[in-house]
Amino acid sequence: MLARGAGFVLGNALMRTLSAAIAALGLLAGPGAARALDLHDSRSSPFDLAFTGRLSGVPAGQTRYAAWSEIRALPTSKVTLNGEFTSGDQVLTVVFLGDLLKALPASAGTDALLATCGDGYASVYTLDFIAQYRPFLVLEINGKGPKDWPPPGLDYNPGPYVITVSSALAPAAAKYRDIEHKKPWGVAAIELANYAERYRGIYTGPRASLSAAARDGRDIWVNSCACCHAGPPGSFGGTKADRPFQVIAAYAGYDRPFFMKYVRKPKSLVPCAKMEPHPDYSDAELSNLIEFITADER
Ligand code: HEC
Repeated sequence: MLARGAGFVLGNALMRTLSAAIAALGLLAGPGAARALDLHDSRSSPFDLAFTGRLSGVPAGQTRYAAWSEIRALPTSKVTLNGEFTSGDQVLTVVFLGDLLKALPASAGTDALLATCGDGYASVYTLDFIAQYRPFLVLEINGKGPKDWPPPGLDYNPGPYVITVSSALAPAAAKYRDIEHKKPWGVAAIELANYAERYRGIYTGPRASLSAAARDGRDIWVNSCACCHAGPPGSFGGTKADRPFQVIAAYAGYDRPFFMKYVRKPKSLVPCAKMEPHPDYSDAELSNLIEFITADER
């Protein structure tokens, strides 16, 4: 357990302020009193969840850890979903990200969570998204935790943690454009972040005042492409794809047909492509994406 020094007390005060702000946003659905999650200096198991970023009382750049059993002791809900991981009905034990955030010593200015997976894939959850779409961390599938995963019938291991969203809980999720990118598995770390700070590279400089089309393209970039591709300097992104942003921008600027086809169906151009297909973007959406990606070239 961490020593609870003055920093921690201050942290709690800030956390209460943040919780109040979150409550005011209507995020706190459950009646359960907030319970703090103990954070540890070092990892004790591969099933620990790592936390970084704006943790009060924790020096910048340092990582803290919570054990699965400690997260399991937070207020949880049972959710029955059909076909989510295995076929048929399955009961999931979950912690809503809004409740997880309440249990963390988030410092002022925290308005987004960045979840990163073991393979470098990453997803962003803003407070607005959390309030509207109610993403949750899955702790158990049919009563079994990650030590017993994958559950029978699933051909990959979604552990140690998986975050998902369900239109059964938040009907709006059915219409969210990039909802599949809000369902990362293999989640190993969560950063408490300030959105404007972590994405300043695509909201400032040549991208400070974009057209409506390019702003839509930026939205696609943040919620889809950036799961695997790092953006221009000063913009958060996953590290799963090793292509620099300039390479993506070169395709977008000089070979639009290749770019559009690659985004929709990578394997149609490169048989061994590892990038997943995005077949549902319209021509207009891809054109908006191109306008955003090439914005600093005009
Ligand atoms: C799941 C991870 C993932 C996502 C999401 C993703 N990519 Fe990729 N992308 C890759 C990987 C990995 C490569 C490297 C080539 C390969 O194996 O497909 C790549 C390659 C590319 C290339 C070709 C570059 C080259 O050098 O051949 C382009 C263009 C590209 N991505 C654009 C995008 C855009 C635009 C989006 C968002 C709509 C996106 N990608 C989303 C993983 C991803």
